Amino acid sequence: MSDQKTILSGIQPSGKLHIGNYFGAMRQHIRMQKEGDAFYFLANYHTLTSINDGELLRQYTLDVVLDYLALGLDPNECTFFAQSDVPQTTELAWILGCVAPVSLMEKGVAYKDKVAQGLQPNVGLFSYPILQAADILIYHSDLVPVGEDQKQNIEICRDLAGKLNRAFDAELLKLPEEYIVKSVAVVPGIDGRKMSKSYNNTIQIFDEGKSLKSKVMSIQTDSTPLEEPKDPETCNVFALIKLFAADDKREEIAEKYRAGGYGYGHAKKELLGMITGYFSEAREKRKELVKDMDYVHDVLKEGGKKARERAESVMEPIRSNTGLYRSFK
Ligand code: ADP
Ligand code: TRP
Repeated sequence: MSDQKTILSGIQPSGKLHIGNYFGAMRQHIRMQKEGDAFYFLANYHTLTSINDGELLRQYTLDVVLDYLALGLDPNECTFFAQSDVPQTTELAWILGCVAPVSLMEKGVAYKDKVAQGLQPNVGLFSYPILQAADILIYHSDLVPVGEDQKQNIEICRDLAGKLNRAFDAELLKLPEEYIVKSVAVVPGIDGRKMSKSYNNTIQIFDEGKSLKSKVMSIQTDSTPLEEPKDPETCNVFALIKLFAADDKREEIAEKYRAGGYGYGHAKKELLGMITGYFSEAREKRKELVKDMDYVHDVLKEGGKKARERAESVMEPIRSNTGLYRSFK
């Protein structure tokens, strides 16, 4: 094994990815692919906690793969794969579940949030952090770049790794370092709430044409008349502009807001141009990739093979130490 740090992160293929996902997670994943031995995966087992439609999950999975590749994830720089191609993950999740106190899991805030949002309170959703811990621990990961919302899951992961090591008095699992990415602030959706696949308020990364335009034009703003000065810092349109604009451009637009005579319609047009331009190269690349799905499947196949090999090397001593019988190699 190399002496590079192992970086690992996952994203759920639970819907079309949006610009909140891009600025909050994907951009960091793509930037970090050269900074270590990076493993990135599609958390499709996790998505089964919320989607019960095989066709849809298959389609979303390929959409996410295409999105990442189009945006610059390079399979020669990282290992890119589907979680379901590494069955050792669920094997380890069961074993971790057997040292996980129910009281620890009951402290999980993500479960409560998701149930409050209307998701079915199934056992998969409740034990989601155990599966996430297995995702991380099965590769002896060092760094897990995730947003602030995932902090508790990483703490649970470290906790469970320590418990398993102590229970069997062996260094079976490596505790990952805490690595919360200081990303952009929460990206607002077109209704002003957090942009999220669950709120139907997203601007998708690969939206274009009329669909993109109608979403941008429907971003909620207050009713300050065109001629009056406006505060850019309280405006949803400006919050999005800030993500795309270089410093000087951002300042120039902020000045126009403050000066008055600049309407939200003007700002929206500006934003529309920015989104179109920012993702134009990726949009073209995605269209090319769609024409060569064999290549896309090959990427996952290669990534899955590499990930399984690493996972198996971590799983072997765990089977042996826990005393699990196995009659085949
Ligand atoms: P969603 O809420 O759309 O289902 P996920 O919970 O699957 O998104 O998040 C995937 C990743 O994208 C996470 O790392 C999360 O922190 C990031 N992310 C999601 N929505 C936003 C947002 N509105 N602003 C910033 N980051 C976000
Ligand atoms: N829970 C993460 C999210 O919703 C996705 C995820 C699953 C993940 N397993 C992981 C992230 C392991 C990092 C490491 O965004």
